Amino acid sequence: MLELRSVTKRFGDVDAVREVSLSVPDGAFLVLLGPSGCGKTTLLRMLAGLEMPSAGQIVFDGQVVSDGDRAWAVDPARRNSGLVFQSYALWPHMTVRGNVEWPLKVAGMARPEREARVAEVLRMLGIDGLARRFPNEISGGQQQRVAIARTIAPRPGVLLFDEPLSNLDAKLRVEMRTELMRLHRATGATTVYVTHDQIEAMTMASHVAVMRAGRVEQFGTPLDLVERPETAFVATFVGTPPGNLVPVRRNGTGWVVGGRHMPLEPPADGAQALFRAETLRLEGAEGPRTLPLELAEVSTIAGRVMVTAIAPDLRLTAVTEALPAARVGETVHIGLPETPAAWFAPTGERIG
Ligand SMILES: Nc1ncnc2c1ncn2[C@@H]1O[C@H](COP(=O)(O)OP(=O)(O)O)[C@@H](O)[C@H]1O
Ligand SMILES: [Mg+2]
Repeated sequence: MLELRSVTKRFGDVDAVREVSLSVPDGAFLVLLGPSGCGKTTLLRMLAGLEMPSAGQIVFDGQVVSDGDRAWAVDPARRNSGLVFQSYALWPHMTVRGNVEWPLKVAGMARPEREARVAEVLRMLGIDGLARRFPNEISGGQQQRVAIARTIAPRPGVLLFDEPLSNLDAKLRVEMRTELMRLHRATGATTVYVTHDQIEAMTMASHVAVMRAGRVEQFGTPLDLVERPETAFVATFVGTPPGNLVPVRRNGTGWVVGGRHMPLEPPADGAQALFRAETLRLEGAEGPRTLPLELAEVSTIAGRVMVTAIAPDLRLTAVTEALPAARVGETVHIGLPETPAAWFAPTGERIG
């Protein structure tokens, strides 16, 4: 089990990570998801032992490995974890085999055992044919595989990844996603994986911690986040496409969305309604629940049509079966469902 207890990290007057508490079971695939600058890398580096928490504890398998309150931590090399960075940082003067073998040598593994393990992990990552090449003689995708092979070779109990796929092209990224999940099943190692890409998070994770400004905004399974978002931020950060958040204002006795009166019953003035893309409809004409918006984007994904329409302070994305008759720049009528999927306070917390 991996546990974080009120882990905080300050750099001068920047609170990079604020009181993060999490507990994930052995063998979990935890994704730290959030926008750039929210503290993901800092948290991962504390897990790896490269950074001392300012406060709080990190516990692997019931043993405290970092204690910020006492400024004490187990050395990175002695905490049974392996870290893969975004940039592969292979040793350029060593062959692929040499790179993967090095940490085993350092750990004092005997030669026959070492050679067997190197052969095994190179096979696991499908790079056994590249053993004699140097890093500058293989592609970026192959280099990242070597970096992963090097990290898993010593069989760490906790595997840490910091945006490992962000330097790869889109197709390779999707392939590597599948391979990393296969690797996770094969090794059984508890994995912590940092990304800003919600699709990566939602497809790979057993558990997701959505981070914002140093805090964990919500922790749960991918399904929890989509079905029961606890904050407006989470609701608009996850899902394909993410949910539509619409502020509803009082006007006289009624409620107004995007300048039009709507038969809605918000729990408070300024509350934000969450409408899932698949519940919005593209209507042929104006109706009691439609908003006239400018068609901004149309795309087809896996046989479904994604339609985005805008007004000066509104942007709605709907998933529809058919292409709109209107063209980009023309007016479309987007129909809202009777009840939104959720309500959020103007400050973001869920209120209904
Ligand atoms: N060594 C450092 N010194 C000062 N500030 C830092 C340092 N490392 C990170 N930060 C700050 O901490 C915050 C979180 O950074 P980081 O963990 O790299 O975010 P992420 O990986 O989510 O993009 C940012 O505001 C960043 O500028
Ligand atoms: Mg980062």
